[in-house]
Amino acid sequence: MAVVTTIERISKYVDQDVTINGWLFNKRSSGKIQFLQIRDGSGFIQGVVVKSDVSPEVFEKCKTITQESSIMVTGSVRADERAPSGFELTVKDVEIVAIAQEYPISLKEHGTDFLMDHRHLWIRTPKQHAILRIRDEINRAIRDFFHERDFVLVEPPIITPASCEGTTELFEIDYFGQNAYLSQTGQLYAEAAAMAFGKVYSFGPTFRAEKSKTRKHLNEFWMVEPEMAYVDFEGNLKIQEEMIAYIVKRVLENRKMELKTLERNTESLENVKAPFPRITYTDAVKLLQENGFEFEWGDDFGAPHETFIAEQYDKPVFITHFPTKMKAFYMQPDPDNPEVILGADLIAPEGYGEIIGGSQRIHDLELLLHKLEEEKLPKEIYEWYIDLRRYGSVPHSGYGLGLERTVAWLCGIDHIRQTIPFARTLNRVYP
Ligand code: 4AD
Ligand code: MG
Repeated sequence: MAVVTTIERISKYVDQDVTINGWLFNKRSSGKIQFLQIRDGSGFIQGVVVKSDVSPEVFEKCKTITQESSIMVTGSVRADERAPSGFELTVKDVEIVAIAQEYPISLKEHGTDFLMDHRHLWIRTPKQHAILRIRDEINRAIRDFFHERDFVLVEPPIITPASCEGTTELFEIDYFGQNAYLSQTGQLYAEAAAMAFGKVYSFGPTFRAEKSKTRKHLNEFWMVEPEMAYVDFEGNLKIQEEMIAYIVKRVLENRKMELKTLERNTESLENVKAPFPRITYTDAVKLLQENGFEFEWGDDFGAPHETFIAEQYDKPVFITHFPTKMKAFYMQPDPDNPEVILGADLIAPEGYGEIIGGSQRIHDLELLLHKLEEEKLPKEIYEWYIDLRRYGSVPHSGYGLGLERTVAWLCGIDHIRQTIPFARTLNRVYP
């Protein structure tokens, strides 16, 4: 009896018989030999069916297998340096589970709209598969990073009574006759959790109703949000650069095949080690002005500005001390210059833009009340959040990393819609 295994684990079974449960990705034939490209979710491998080595039934059966038919293939594992996976399967038997109808995604080029309409099938193909495998690796690296450092995972609610980040981009829902919103960020709840557990992180879907059509915006995306009691601006940046370096290292170590499939140039990634360079917002404005950009202190960076700033460095760069007026109400103003905040955005290299936004939070009760009033936010709804400043308030900090932008950067792909299994964008809620 052959052992049932996966393509990913096949190196353990050289010269032994194994069964792979998978699908036919592609097929070639030269009369006496059929080459079956088999995928099983864990990888891709070539199965070779030699007419003289198998029964006539098996050989004939292989001819009937169409693209994406589900098959259970038994054969012996052969190490082969020329094969992309390093191995080949000498097929002995095939069991057909289901013959697939004519597959909509042929191996020729298709337009992106067509592929996004068939996203449920597109994710089977090598590049999309590689992107989502890398996404999984990043997911795991993030969780490992925080748990190794004694952070506690705390899940904030997705349905919230108030805005956390700003009012313009909320998806409103009817919550039994009361207005509620899909969460833009779990941060405020993470702050409550940090006062209960010290160091926490949340990791979940967040929703932005912005009508952006850029390659960096989704209306539903995943964000990891650490929040730490007794950590200030400086400590906040330190953990961010450590985390990014950790994630990059893990992907480089564990997802070599996938990076190769994506033809990702990994040289720039090898360089991503802490510490990261920093520039203040004010200095970044000067830099832009000196280089011919029309830009005033107080303007928000657009993609060309971010890209230009990032190009000055060979690692991700922190832009720190943004104008207080530009940023969310909860950010701690710099005591030495309250016009700017003790926060930073982390800009990824190669034009991937802002991947992290974070800051020290206001911990002073009076200052927070003043800010809520200034921003005309309804105090009643934030009572619980204000309570955190009434009962044992401490300086604390946190940040949010956008998962999809991180995946796009590490995979080197140009559009964020390919970094999430089923993207939600301005023009798309299907499939
Ligand atoms: O800068 P943002 O809006 O920060 C917050 O929401 C804070 N409350 C986070 C915190 O401090 N706990 O978003 C954080 C990150 C961005 O840097 C970006 O990577 C990602 O979330 N992001 C988006 N990703 C995809 N599509 C969008 N529309 C995004 N908006 C933000
Ligand atoms: Mg931001």
